[in-house]
Amino acid sequence: MSRFEEQSNDPEWIAFRTALERAIGVPLAQYKEPQMKRRLHSLMSRRGITTWPVFAKAIATEQKLLDEVKDTLTINVSEFFRQADRFFEIRDRVLPQLLKERRTLKLWSAGCSIGCEPYTLSMILNEVDPNGAHTVLATDVDMPIMARAKEGTGYHASEVRAVPPELLKKYFVEKNGSYAVNDTVKKRVQFRRQDLLSDPYPKDVDLILCRNVVIYFTEPAKQVIYTSFAQALRPGGYLFVGGSEMIMRSQELGFRATGTSIYQRAA
Ligand SMILES: C[S@@+](CC[C@H](N)C(=O)[O-])C[C@H]1O[C@@H](n2cnc3c(N)ncnc32)[C@H](O)[C@@H]1O
Repeated sequence: MSRFEEQSNDPEWIAFRTALERAIGVPLAQYKEPQMKRRLHSLMSRRGITTWPVFAKAIATEQKLLDEVKDTLTINVSEFFRQADRFFEIRDRVLPQLLKERRTLKLWSAGCSIGCEPYTLSMILNEVDPNGAHTVLATDVDMPIMARAKEGTGYHASEVRAVPPELLKKYFVEKNGSYAVNDTVKKRVQFRRQDLLSDPYPKDVDLILCRNVVIYFTEPAKQVIYTSFAQALRPGGYLFVGGSEMIMRSQELGFRATGTSIYQRAA
């Protein structure tokens, strides 16, 4: 293990984690181990499974159990306008500020899961500047989840519950209780696979959202990611992290805290 800290070296656990990584396509070595094990243990005891090797065999043959594991680890949980006040702040304060400095903005949703976050950004960009040629890059390490995100369909009522009613009407099509985003929303968003721990980062970004992704990661992994975000942003660009997330030693990385969970790269 190179630039990150070593965690447990129990071979049965490592073999299970490797099998799980292969099955879900998400690297887990930098996920916080105690938190992950706590969640997995409670699922194992509900299923009467007592060892990692038995659990590894079970996830290899039972897709339903694998889906449950993903849900237990809350790997892909997301919704539109998640913590809506953050998006209103982006709409009312951050985008107008950025648009004073640049005509065309480049936004990035890192760890975009099923697409709710980048599509929400696309909606608010459209509200603020409908004629601008702004783009939203949406990345995730999980290919199947991104394929679903790209479709922009099949969202449940629980995933659109925070969307303001007028925007729900304007940007969604509802059929039998299932919601899809329309082409106005989809056209600005480009999906790309990226592992935040090992792949190159885009450059010259105006605004990055990385929420509820690194929360599962070890501290050294977080620091590497935040350093890379600082380099990916243009001077004056913004980084939004999740509601309960905080960047340690943010000043050393060239960030200035400008509100709860909002950082600006020093100009
Ligand atoms: C809980 S979702 C967060 C979705 C969205 N950002 C939000 O806050 O609603 C976390 C996402 O991070 C992705 N992820 C996990 N490890 C990653 C990595 N190393 N690189 C990129 N994405 C990763 C997962 O696949 C998952 O889709």
